[in-house]
Amino acid sequence: MKMKEGFLWGGATAANQYEGGWNEGGKGASVPDHMRGGSFKQPRQIDAEFDPNALYPSWEATDFYHHYEEDIALFAEMGWNVFRMSINWSRLFPTGEETEPNQEGLDFYDKVFACCAKHGIQPLVTISHYELPYALVQKYNGWASREVIDLFFHYGKTILDRWHDQVKLWLTFNEINTGAMGMGSVMSLSIIQGYTGTMADFPDDPQLRFQALHHQFVASAKLVKYAHETYPDLKMGNMDCFILSYAATCDPKDVLLNEQEMRITNWFCSDVQVRGYYPAYMNRYFKEHGIKVEFAPGDKELLLQGKVDFYTFSYYMSSIVGTHDVEQTAGNMTFGGKNPYLKSTDWGWQIDPDGLRFSLNEIWDRYQIPMMVVENGMGAYDEKGEDGKIHDDYRIAYLKTHVRAMEEAVEDGVDLMGYTWWGPIDLVSAGTGEMRKRYGFIFVDKYDDGTGDLHRERKDSFFAYQKIIKSNGEDLD
Ligand code: BG6
Repeated sequence: MKMKEGFLWGGATAANQYEGGWNEGGKGASVPDHMRGGSFKQPRQIDAEFDPNALYPSWEATDFYHHYEEDIALFAEMGWNVFRMSINWSRLFPTGEETEPNQEGLDFYDKVFACCAKHGIQPLVTISHYELPYALVQKYNGWASREVIDLFFHYGKTILDRWHDQVKLWLTFNEINTGAMGMGSVMSLSIIQGYTGTMADFPDDPQLRFQALHHQFVASAKLVKYAHETYPDLKMGNMDCFILSYAATCDPKDVLLNEQEMRITNWFCSDVQVRGYYPAYMNRYFKEHGIKVEFAPGDKELLLQGKVDFYTFSYYMSSIVGTHDVEQTAGNMTFGGKNPYLKSTDWGWQIDPDGLRFSLNEIWDRYQIPMMVVENGMGAYDEKGEDGKIHDDYRIAYLKTHVRAMEEAVEDGVDLMGYTWWGPIDLVSAGTGEMRKRYGFIFVDKYDDGTGDLHRERKDSFFAYQKIIKSNGEDLD
């Protein structure tokens, strides 16, 4: 089995976890710049005022800002033809409210895109990946306020106008559906609602959360509409965090509960962004949870006019849902039921390549638009062997089984455009703020205490991915 001609192979990153240079070149602070590192057990803390004794992992991250040329050359050496990255909103609009973008910020991304072009790599850009200028949190409580829609549109229009020739594939919001997940999704809450405190202590306010999400839907649709009208050759995508869950047993009650879970967690946001309207099942959910989403005049029309062209998602793991006793385990952005048939990563995420095939098939059957897996990967402790190299066969196994699962899905009939591995170069974990949770094919000398000289090294998985790409997915031995 192999992928079709022109299949996109590459890796995915996010500015706040990779770029660094947090206060260089006129950049303003964004929400993640205010977040301390945490761990598996200790939730990340968000400081309104910086504590001079605390460490803020996003500040330097793994310093793409000063290493982009070296990194993009390494990506090219692996054989990539696509690089998913995000633009840091506060690098262009430090407080989110400036009329004119910051020239040094524009210059930086000009150079990055030119470097990609030099290596024959096309960028796939996420416009908002878990970051927001912090000033907008202070002034508006982030996405809770409608005002942020136009500020986002101004930012989005600025970047489309400048880079529509260099970038043809765009995603509006990373994992927008984490806003629908409730308290499990502390990361998204911190950004949407802008609370200050420890992530685990946020009081959940579903009314505010769904209203904020509505503002993101409208903002996304407004920009997608603009793109379609102005630059018809651009492809605009959504991005969902697909948390596949299975019914824990064949008890019909479990099946119904899981259907509900799948709808709220996985289908609601993409139903809105792909079909252009709120699905009927949300009426009952809103009624039963006392939620009333305010639509301004024109919102309904905008949602219909701003439907996305392709569906993208992250896939890391699966979980189970049931009405009987279900043991809980950790997962991406949330917790989930433990599946006795699956093994887990060092961070408790359940490894399920068949679930990727199943998810691809389900999504394709529902929407019938081109799809792309824009995040998939394995966070693990990496240790150097006696020869000083990282022999990450666990990561290679994860990679190969998931590539095979995608090929099976393509064989099943799915229209799959491409695949970008998450964190192809070590970067800061979004959930825990750790460095030791490494995803990379490329090691970066950077540690949780902020030390490290940032030099890069190829792990064994670097060569494994190179081989897979060279054979267009055929060589999985
Ligand atoms: C995705 C996010 O949910 O998962 C990324 O889009 C994140 O930003 C990735 O890094 C892996 O999660 P974590 O918590 O291990 O970094």
